[in-house]
Amino acid sequence: MRLTIVGSGYVGLVTGACLADLGNQVICVDNDTEKIDLLTKSDEIPIYEPGLEELVKKNKENGRLTFSSDIEFGIKDSDVIFICVGTPSRDDGSADLTGIEKVSRIIAEHIDSYKLVVEKSTVPVETSEWIKKTINTFKKNGCEFDVASNPEFLREGSAIEDFMNPDRIVIGVESKKAEELLKELYSPIETKIVVSDIKGAEIIKHASNSFLATKISFINAISNLCDRTGADINAVAEGIGLDSRINRHFLKAGVGFGGSCFPKDIKAFIHISEKLGYSFGLLKEVEKINQEQKDRVIRKIEELLWNLPEKTIAIWGLAFKPHTDDIRSAPSMDIIKSLLKEKAKIRVFDPEAMEKVRKEMGNRIVYCKDVYDAAQDADCVILVTEWNEFKEVDWDRVKSVMKHPAVLDGRNIYDSGKLKNLGFKYAGIGRR
Ligand code: UDX
Repeated sequence: MRLTIVGSGYVGLVTGACLADLGNQVICVDNDTEKIDLLTKSDEIPIYEPGLEELVKKNKENGRLTFSSDIEFGIKDSDVIFICVGTPSRDDGSADLTGIEKVSRIIAEHIDSYKLVVEKSTVPVETSEWIKKTINTFKKNGCEFDVASNPEFLREGSAIEDFMNPDRIVIGVESKKAEELLKELYSPIETKIVVSDIKGAEIIKHASNSFLATKISFINAISNLCDRTGADINAVAEGIGLDSRINRHFLKAGVGFGGSCFPKDIKAFIHISEKLGYSFGLLKEVEKINQEQKDRVIRKIEELLWNLPEKTIAIWGLAFKPHTDDIRSAPSMDIIKSLLKEKAKIRVFDPEAMEKVRKEMGNRIVYCKDVYDAAQDADCVILVTEWNEFKEVDWDRVKSVMKHPAVLDGRNIYDSGKLKNLGFKYAGIGRR
């Protein structure tokens, strides 16, 4: 099929590269000409995602994947148009849909034959209605079109694997033609295809992310009880998660969830619910618990070190999770900002996210070359992101360079007994 992907960010670029790899002819368009230049003229890609650079290169070379800043050409040349533009949070928590509206108007202007317009960006329920209305209002001819919703569930760090081997594909449609086109497009992928109405598909996306975030806040809430009683949250989570009705995924207590999706999508879901007349109290509490997790980290460091001014704190891990350089809504940023407010000195290390943090934090913190460098003269190490390379460290070496051997294990990955035997003070999240 001939496809156009509008928006070459995370979702757009992964979708474009994967659909090209499945044998389609794909044009990825974006109004950021610098990005398109980079993608056209070099083998580099603007984001860090394992395997994506190679997949883009391969499909550029075989001629199935091209990039353009000319959206008009993309629209005229394709049967299916995927909208993958950003839907950032506005100040009131609602999703900013101006990008979606702009693309809808441009599609309306240039539509010259039947098109299937697929909304892949995460959007509040009923956005498809607006897309339809907009195209109908601004189109200059009688060309037919369908709108469909096909939410994306990929995770950063395993995006290609998630796209190619999904648990399910959700398509929200209101015509047989749209359903058949999307089923054909995804026929090379072996998985269950869930067909619903469009609003159902829109709700599925927000509800899935909100449910996962709820699991995380639930286990973080339970970790509070473990802190107060001395029970170990890792054992508690295992005991809960081995019940197959609950399952073990997303039951890891820690410093709170971050990233470009969960925090933003929960806000948008709360907002659209409110607009529809339903106050989503459960999700408000999920958000609140997530914020409290970061405050808990600061209280725990105070318990280890007493006063924070002039103390040196090493932060291991800055990305919102491993295998990405993404620091959007990363717990590390909130924790660093709170510590700076308390006049602590900060030394940081992350295998991938250092440049992005440097852009945001400038010279307010010290950037280090590895975990040992970060621990130099530190009064406490905080493990914020559980990169694999942080799992096996030489603790004797860490202790020898620290001023005072204390570890706050923000992801509960270390053997607390071993660390205590080596002379460290240890605190976990719901674990001693
Ligand atoms: C998420 C959804 O998983 C994905 O389906 C959707 O398309 C986009 O949002 P992503 O944001 O890439 O993906 O990361 P994910 O792996 O889900 O982790 C999100 C956050 O939750 C991270 O900050 C992670 O550290 C945290 N988390 C996850 C926990 O704190 N505990 C857990 O048990 C799992």
